[in-house]
Amino acid sequence: MKITNAEFIISAVGPAQYPDDGLPEIGLAGRSNVGKSSLINRMIMRKNLARTSSQPGKTQQLNYYRINEDIYFVDVPGYGYARVSKQQRAAWGRMIEAYFQDRDTLRLVLLVIDLRHPPTADDCTMYDWLTHYGVPVCVVATKADKISKNHWQKHIKQVRSTLGLRPDIPCVLFSAETGQGREELWDMIVKHTRL
Ligand code: GTP
Ligand code: MG
Repeated sequence: MKITNAEFIISAVGPAQYPDDGLPEIGLAGRSNVGKSSLINRMIMRKNLARTSSQPGKTQQLNYYRINEDIYFVDVPGYGYARVSKQQRAAWGRMIEAYFQDRDTLRLVLLVIDLRHPPTADDCTMYDWLTHYGVPVCVVATKADKISKNHWQKHIKQVRSTLGLRPDIPCVLFSAETGQGREELWDMIVKHTRL
C-alpha cells in the first residue's frame, strides 16, 4: 500500500461529529497502552501523526485519520485503564457502543492485543461483544519485537485459544517497532474495503 497522504481530521465525541463522506472506516480496539496509536503510525509510515504515549489513557476521543482520500483509521480510546471515574467509564462505554454498533461505514475492527501476555478478561469481553454484534474483526498481536521469534507461534496459539477465536477470524502478528506484519495487515484492510 502506497501512502500518498495521511491527515488528522477530527476528534469526535459522538455521531454528530463523525465525517459524513461515506468513506470506509477501520476501527481500532484494545487495552489502554497496548499500542493502537503506534500501529496506525506504522501503517501510514508517520512517526507521530496519531498521538502515542507511555502513559495509558492518552487517546480520549474517536480520532479520525484519513488515508489517501480512501479510508479512515479511527483511533478509539483503550479500555482497562484503572485511573478513571465510574462516570468516565460509563461515558466511554456509551461512546464506543454507539460507534461499533451503529456505524454503517465501519468495515473492520482491529482488536489489538499484546503478544507477550495472554489476552485479558477485558480483551475476551471485547472480542465476544464485537462478534456478537456481527462486527468483522481482525486480531492484531502487537509488540512482537519484545519476544524472540521462536516463541511467536506458541504465543499466537495462546492468543487464539484464550480468546476462543473462531477459525475464520484472522490473527496477525505485528510490531510497530519493526514493521513486522504491516503488509499482511494492509492486505486484510484492502480486502475488507475493496480499495
Ligand atoms: P491509549 O491511547 O492509552 O489507549 O494507548 P495506545 O494503545 O494508543 O498505545 P500507544 O500506541 O500510545 O503505545 C503505548 C506504548 O507502547 C508506547 O510507549 C509505545 O512506544 C509502545 N509500543 C507500541 N507498539 C509497540 C511495539 O510494537 N513494540 C514496542 N517495543 N513498543 C510498542
Ligand atoms: Mg492511543
